[in-house]
Amino acid sequence: MTSELRQAADRFLVRYGGDRFEQLFTRASGSVVYDDTGREILDFTSGQMCATIGHNHPEIVKAIQLAGDTALHMFSGMVPTVVAELGQVLANDWLPAPLQKSLFVNTGSEANEAALRMAKMYTGGYEVLAMGGSWHGVTGGSASATFASDRKGYGPSLPGLYMMPEPNNYRPLVDGASPEDNARMCLEIGLKMFDDQSRGAPAAVILEPILSAGGVLVPPKSFMEGLRKAADERGMVLIFDEAQTAFGRIGEKFGAGYFGVTPDIMSLSKTLGGGLPLAATVTSDAIEQNIHEKGFTFYTSHVADPLPAQAGLAVLRTIVQDDLIARAREMGDYLSAQLEALQQRHEVIGDVRGAGLLIGVELVEDRHTKVAHHALGAATTTRCFELGLSMNIRRRPERGAVWRIAPPLTVSRDEVDRAVAILDQALSECQDEMAKPS
Ligand SMILES: Cc1ncc(COP(=O)(O)O)c(C=O)c1O
Repeated sequence: MTSELRQAADRFLVRYGGDRFEQLFTRASGSVVYDDTGREILDFTSGQMCATIGHNHPEIVKAIQLAGDTALHMFSGMVPTVVAELGQVLANDWLPAPLQKSLFVNTGSEANEAALRMAKMYTGGYEVLAMGGSWHGVTGGSASATFASDRKGYGPSLPGLYMMPEPNNYRPLVDGASPEDNARMCLEIGLKMFDDQSRGAPAAVILEPILSAGGVLVPPKSFMEGLRKAADERGMVLIFDEAQTAFGRIGEKFGAGYFGVTPDIMSLSKTLGGGLPLAATVTSDAIEQNIHEKGFTFYTSHVADPLPAQAGLAVLRTIVQDDLIARAREMGDYLSAQLEALQQRHEVIGDVRGAGLLIGVELVEDRHTKVAHHALGAATTTRCFELGLSMNIRRRPERGAVWRIAPPLTVSRDEVDRAVAILDQALSECQDEMAKPS
């Protein structure tokens, strides 16, 4: 059965990019997934960064049951009670003022698409400034603002998309520059390039508060403050794509709180649905009123659906009840300390960075030259999987070799210890293997 279905996967499924394992997978629970041989694997990417409260959390299962007993889906003009409740909980207990109005969709790509449409309608402009190393999704507008994925082969992107250099504290534009000075340079260069190229119709600045696919880059606070000011001066809307940073992952409710900067529009996705496809685009009453009067639409088959909204409510309740934001800080500190201890022993670990339980570990051939160690990144990721740990490597040559580590916020100390022991073993074995004469 297993080998038959593995063959079926090869024969009948489109390959959609990224790393694909040869095994199939059958089950997921807490911080663990099981493959088709019954093997248990620690999942230190929380699925696709979505299962922040752990896979198949009982509260999510209950929410799905409740939706089964009440409603799964409705005509888009019929707002389900549970969707109104989710909007209310988000506005009252989570969102920073003045953000209070939510549009509920399914994926992060879609939430960013909606955010860009809102920004364009509100400002009357169309020009969008995004960061190098960004990932906002695969649909037209979101993909146009994405610079960390393959852009080649799909025809033109949207007109009016500009990119500014992302601040990378480990690899500053000028060797030796402090994070603050580097961020200032990125801002100055990026804004000058934008202003010089602009056709005079600015609409939005969009960024992930922590650039995840770009290599888990945490900009200095001054960078966010500078972007807020730059957006205001140009009449642009500031959009935070909080797909990975919202709801506790970084030890705060949102990246906005972490940096002390409030955007005009926030897109929320992965971490809101607890593994179900739920995303939201949120904005202020004033922007919502303005675009409504201009005829804003984002009418889709699954806008404001009750099933994912039940899951969203369960996620928010669980984060509060189990104090998962504090837990992300505590376990994040613990995991980071273990990784820094690994760095003491392995010369190839050039940098350990991140916030809460969103952590990047950069592998280099040499700490002085900082040449990315792609071969070791690939080998260790494979070896970790064989040893029972799944984590992610950013393999784009221009962005370094960075392990991306983001276990569920419910991860235990024992699971962290097991994962770190596997990373240690994989690093030692793969380096020994590479040192052998070929
Ligand atoms: C920061 C960020 N924004 C948006 C997206 C796109 O979300 P989705 O894959 O749900 O469309 C991703 C996906 O990885 C992401 O990391």
